[in-house]
Amino acid sequence: MGAARRVLVRTYGCQMNVHDSEKVTNLLLHQGYVPTAALDDADLLVINTCSIREKAEHHLYSDLGLLREWKRARAGRVLAVGGCVAQQEGEALLRRFGQVDFVFGTHNLRWVGVMAEAARRGRRDARVEESASLERFDLPARHPDFEGFGAGRAFVTVMEGCDMFCSFCIVPRTRGREISRPAPAIVAEVEDLAARGVREVALLGQTVNAYGRHDLRRERSRSARGAAAPEVETVGFGALLRRLARVPGIARIRYTSPHPLFFDDDLVRAHAELGTLCPHVHLPVQSGSDTVLARMRRRYTRERFLGMVRELRAARPDIALTSDLIVGFPGESDADFRDTLALVEEVGFVDSYSFKYSPRPGTAAAELGDPVAPEVAQARLEELQALQRGLTWAAHRARVGQRTEVLVAGESRRGGGQLSGRDPYHRVVNFEAPRDGGVAPGQLAPVTVVEATPHSLIGRLDGLGGREALKPGAPGADGEVRIDGIPSLS
Ligand code: 5AD
Ligand code: SF4
Repeated sequence: MGAARRVLVRTYGCQMNVHDSEKVTNLLLHQGYVPTAALDDADLLVINTCSIREKAEHHLYSDLGLLREWKRARAGRVLAVGGCVAQQEGEALLRRFGQVDFVFGTHNLRWVGVMAEAARRGRRDARVEESASLERFDLPARHPDFEGFGAGRAFVTVMEGCDMFCSFCIVPRTRGREISRPAPAIVAEVEDLAARGVREVALLGQTVNAYGRHDLRRERSRSARGAAAPEVETVGFGALLRRLARVPGIARIRYTSPHPLFFDDDLVRAHAELGTLCPHVHLPVQSGSDTVLARMRRRYTRERFLGMVRELRAARPDIALTSDLIVGFPGESDADFRDTLALVEEVGFVDSYSFKYSPRPGTAAAELGDPVAPEVAQARLEELQALQRGLTWAAHRARVGQRTEVLVAGESRRGGGQLSGRDPYHRVVNFEAPRDGGVAPGQLAPVTVVEATPHSLIGRLDGLGGREALKPGAPGADGEVRIDGIPSLS
């Protein structure tokens, strides 16, 4: 038998893509591939692409240019393109780039093994059919050699697709219609992860808190007609969180990305009631101006958004909120932009991702006139980001003296033997730990925040069980803490 074939999966974009790459890697492990981090070693390169903004899409095209040489350098190498650009462009990628062997869309991950084998035999193919069935979730269980994205942490897909059609957004076209996985399958996956030592799950979906809404509506209309019970067991998102919070071993639950429209009372209450639900919500607002929000087709007003923030804070006063914002949307006036700045300040986001509007083909906003001049958009972006930096740093300074709990990811990028991880509020915390001191990646470590930096917190490891540094009323004082990052989708 020859040496195992080696695969490198390169990922662009959001957490959904990161998780799809994990699914592809796992699937290929089952096919006998061995993952490698070195392009030179790879026999199969899979590029998992993003098309949320033009710049992301261009990453692929510049990669493909460079990869012509990589393909040529060794016979039998296979180059595959998946993800959102693959879904959008399909066969056109094969026509345009002779070096690409196969293309698979966002609903077609399960074909990657078969397509890779066919490509080795010289077949060039694209599979980008959209599917409205749950089949796409039928992927192999975790391979024993599969290493997830983080020590003690795992992503779990609960729903996919988006039916919101915000006017700027390509996602409904690249990810298709909303579909929710049956709750029992999600619970079983989380139980399995917990049994493998996972302490934190991040529930994923393009509009994650819309989970189950279509099934629930169908169920209601069926029962109104007196029809038989549905085959699929359906619950709302709040109920799903309550079920998962009962899984032994799971210490933290996060979810990303919610849409502001789908925070019902049950979900808000879940934040008050569930100790394992992290006090952090990534809540994309996009703009603080009602006129811009209406043109974005976000379906809420500034006031409604602020009302929801108040409700969340009433339920969980220490909740940390982060957001996504777009500047330079067509027709955005200076006054509109000031409304965005004022909203960011009023909410006091702990962090945010902000972007210059990028027209996407086929979206409603791409047809709008009245573009904002690039230099104006750039200046707005810089002003917004400066405001956010100030808010982030202030939020970090306010944490000094508080006890928290860090899910250790590994060695800190700061070096010096420090460990690094996230606290329940999704802040990065670096701290010194004695070698062989019993604190290892994947474990929860009790830490007191001793210093704030613009991007992270510095902590001191508390003696096991030591509560002496506890500041009264500090979040984490109940010993329950929890959190996630990379731009969201919502
Ligand atoms: N231009 C700029 N930013 C966009 N986003 C989505 N579509 C666009 C676009 N066309 C941003 C939104 C979203 C995040 C993932 O990316 O803020 O929440
Ligand atoms: Fe859907 Fe979010 Fe895109 Fe709106 S911004 S269309 S909610 S993925």
